[in-house]
Amino acid sequence: MLTASAAEPEMTAEEFEMIRDFIHEKSGIFFAENKMYLLKNRLIKRMASLEIKTYKDYFYHVKYDTSMAEFKELMNQITTNETSFFRNEPQLLSFSDEVLPLIIKSGQESKGQKSIKIWSAGCSTGEEPYTLAMMIIDKLGSLNGWRVEIIANDISEQVLQVARRGEYSGITMRNVKPTILSRFFDKDGEVYRVKPEVKSLVKFSHINLSDARQMSMHSGFDVIFCRNVMIYFSDEVKRQIVRGYYNSLKPGGYFYIGHSETLHGISKAFKLVYFKNALVYQKEAVTSGASGRTAGTGTKSVAAIGAAEGAAGGARRAIDLLSKIKK
Ligand SMILES: C[S@@+](CC[C@H](N)C(=O)[O-])C[C@H]1O[C@@H](n2cnc3c(N)ncnc32)[C@H](O)[C@@H]1O
Repeated sequence: MLTASAAEPEMTAEEFEMIRDFIHEKSGIFFAENKMYLLKNRLIKRMASLEIKTYKDYFYHVKYDTSMAEFKELMNQITTNETSFFRNEPQLLSFSDEVLPLIIKSGQESKGQKSIKIWSAGCSTGEEPYTLAMMIIDKLGSLNGWRVEIIANDISEQVLQVARRGEYSGITMRNVKPTILSRFFDKDGEVYRVKPEVKSLVKFSHINLSDARQMSMHSGFDVIFCRNVMIYFSDEVKRQIVRGYYNSLKPGGYFYIGHSETLHGISKAFKLVYFKNALVYQKEAVTSGASGRTAGTGTKSVAAIGAAEGAAGGARRAIDLLSKIKK
């Protein structure tokens, strides 16, 4: 009798390369040679449910599906979605106790509308953006007079469905303190439901971060979180995406990547700020006559040119360009 594993198809090197290159081209996610077993394991169940016998046939099935439905399913299968509430406390403390007060102060001093705009890119099942929303509400006391927007997106439709539901239980809740539990969740048996006050601040949507056009539709952020996402991309894709983040940030805006990740060899456009609790990347503020962190769109587009050049000192060159234009 055949056991289940004996019936599993073997993946040839040629099949691995075909599928790996396709996934990389379409999503930026890169499976190194030693991750062949991982890719294989992630595809097996899907192929069984479609009754597809070889990886080559599955490749053609995805590639020639013009509706892109199978590509979406592929993304559900191959992405790593590990996350939890209040993940990496030092980074979050630097956000709530150091970065957020600066943004609030700057908003209070500005004559325009007081606003905070955050991007949680690669948000998985929603714990990160909901955590940020709770921290912002906690810091502001009340949203009175403030417009708070948290844009949260992911390539996997499956995790976005969970995120929109906002119902959690088990290990993902392990770092949530009792005071936070009672203030921001409704308990229903074993399930904790995120309260509407928190949910209303977060807008979930689908994105493919490796698509420069989709990235360029996001702008004006005070802070971007892209933690534990780019580790799955090739360096070439990381560079492109980080340029996109640079352009999407307001001058003076902050950029968080995972605590074990680095922009070394990827971008020199950001400066590294040493906060008490964590190191955070920052886009330089435009100070020459403009209003610092919240400089107008003219300033931003010139900064964008500098960043798009992708070389060292992009922000600095942007300021030089700006002063030439002003003359
Ligand atoms: C490990 S989770 C990180 C979740 C959260 N940021 C955190 O640190 O807890 C990585 C997420 O990135 C998403 N992702 C991977 N490639 C992506 C892409 N090209 N576009 C958008 N999201 C992507 C995955 O679907 C996954 O949910």
